[in-house]
Amino acid sequence: MSMNYNSLARDYAKHRRTHPEVLRHLIEDGRLTFASRILDVGCGTGNYAVAIEQAVGCECWGIEPSQEMMATAKARAASARFKEGRAERLDFADAFFDLVLSVDVIHHVEDRPAHYREAMRVLRPGGLLCTVTDSEDIIRHREPLSTYFPETIDVELGRYPKIQDLKQMMLESGFTAIREETVEFRHALTDIQRYRDKAFSSLHLISAEAFARGMQRLEADLRDKGSVPWWSRYLMLWGTKR
Ligand SMILES: C[S@@+](CC[C@H](N)C(=O)[O-])C[C@H]1O[C@@H](n2cnc3c(N)ncnc32)[C@H](O)[C@@H]1O
Repeated sequence: MSMNYNSLARDYAKHRRTHPEVLRHLIEDGRLTFASRILDVGCGTGNYAVAIEQAVGCECWGIEPSQEMMATAKARAASARFKEGRAERLDFADAFFDLVLSVDVIHHVEDRPAHYREAMRVLRPGGLLCTVTDSEDIIRHREPLSTYFPETIDVELGRYPKIQDLKQMMLESGFTAIREETVEFRHALTDIQRYRDKAFSSLHLISAEAFARGMQRLEADLRDKGSVPWWSRYLMLWGTKR
């Protein structure tokens, strides 16, 4: 089921920021310097392109199919550059980028092999690809999403590609040195407005009853305990263009 990211844009910008460990690994493992040029595919409201631009000062580009998401990105940007586009067709010259990344996007991409072929084309030799996504294990153990809204698990397993399949597509597109790492961030959550606002797309894909049930438990635990555990993990899948 596809999401309408235009209508989600406002809530997304309000609640979803960069994951600190994802950002750190993108910069360090991506070997980014002032001289690097990066592409953030499906950049949404510009979270990663803007954060990398601010932290490293390199040339950051973002592409995004939702006009509303991109309007927010453009309004936030210091000098990051954004244009409308999709992962399957990257409107850039060959060998233009040092790093092509996407965060939480690959499950939306219909033609994933086309995306990896395009990423291979626009990377310079030695350039890096990083697909940041969720593995089955991560989906099953998300806190508080999977604990309070267990109905999201099957929804998510149905729409997220398997890591093994992504690796195979990367290999078939010519990427080498494919490796994965899981990063995590724990936090005591005291503000659950992002759940009330359904800032996570899977909350739009479960029944109204399941959502209400989960919210009721979440509100009660927050009231009783003062906070609820938040465990956010991502799998970062890296490949190199030889
Ligand atoms: C969960 S959001 C992630 C946004 C951003 N990467 C972030 O982490 O803040 C998913 C984004 O993927 C975009 N998207 C959906 N289909 C896409 C496609 N085929 N190519 C590129 N982006 C796509 C959506 O419009 C949305 O902005």
